Amino acid sequence: MMFKFPHKYPLKNGETVTVDLLKSSDYADVHNFLGRLTLGDQDYLKYDVSNLEFVKDRMAAIDQKTRISIGARNEAGLIVGEATVYWTRFGWKSHIGKLRIVVDKDYRKLGLSRYLSQLIFFKAQELGLSKIIAEFVRPQEAARHILRALGFKEVAVLPGFAVDNKLNKHDIIVMAADLGSLLDKYENMVWDDEHKGG
Ligand SMILES: CC(C)(COP(=O)(O)OP(=O)(O)OC[C@H]1O[C@@H](n2cnc3c(N)ncnc32)[C@H](O)[C@@H]1OP(=O)(O)O)[C@@H](O)C(=O)NCCC(=O)NCCS
Repeated sequence: MMFKFPHKYPLKNGETVTVDLLKSSDYADVHNFLGRLTLGDQDYLKYDVSNLEFVKDRMAAIDQKTRISIGARNEAGLIVGEATVYWTRFGWKSHIGKLRIVVDKDYRKLGLSRYLSQLIFFKAQELGLSKIIAEFVRPQEAARHILRALGFKEVAVLPGFAVDNKLNKHDIIVMAADLGSLLDKYENMVWDDEHKGG
């Protein structure tokens, strides 16, 4: 299934967001978005998102064709949700995309991360990836719930392998899914015609 970008998406609370593929030049907006997350959420991000250069560097991967990001902007133009899949270009993991989803706390539980994830999986398959994995630490309960709902299965636990920025250790949970079977499942869902095509 193909989707047009940008397009509007109505959230469960009636507000509409604009959904588009992000470009590497959107890095300042992504930095601003991640900077608006609560410190509690930032504790579990994999790198220091207050550092503009890090964010710029990660977003540059879009031009190197090793990352895709889809963002949702509110009416004020601020990014309020983002899904990213990134991968390595060569080697035995080059068919595996890593997923990361983040939604602004004021926009949670409105179906946004589910929608952005499903969109990005279609895009990831177009780009030739065949598996998606997601890693998170045990306290990220919402992540486990949503990944299960999306069709991911827990495949590994790395006990105490993550050290957060307060030096606490956490189990890393690895969940994975086969893109082909995920998308078969989503194809059967009802999609708004407005979002399809081109
Ligand atoms: C995880 C996160 C992206 C979820 O975003 P969201 O837009 O609120 O999720 P959705 O509204 O699409 O919800 C999808 C499902 O997860 C459930 N869910 C959402 N937040 C939840 C929570 N805190 N606890 C339990 N379930 C939750 C929803 O009820 C929904 O289930 P349903 O479809 O069966 O009703 C968001 O909480 C977040 O940004 N957390 C911090 C970063 C993070 O942990 N990212 C995941 C790393 S991959």
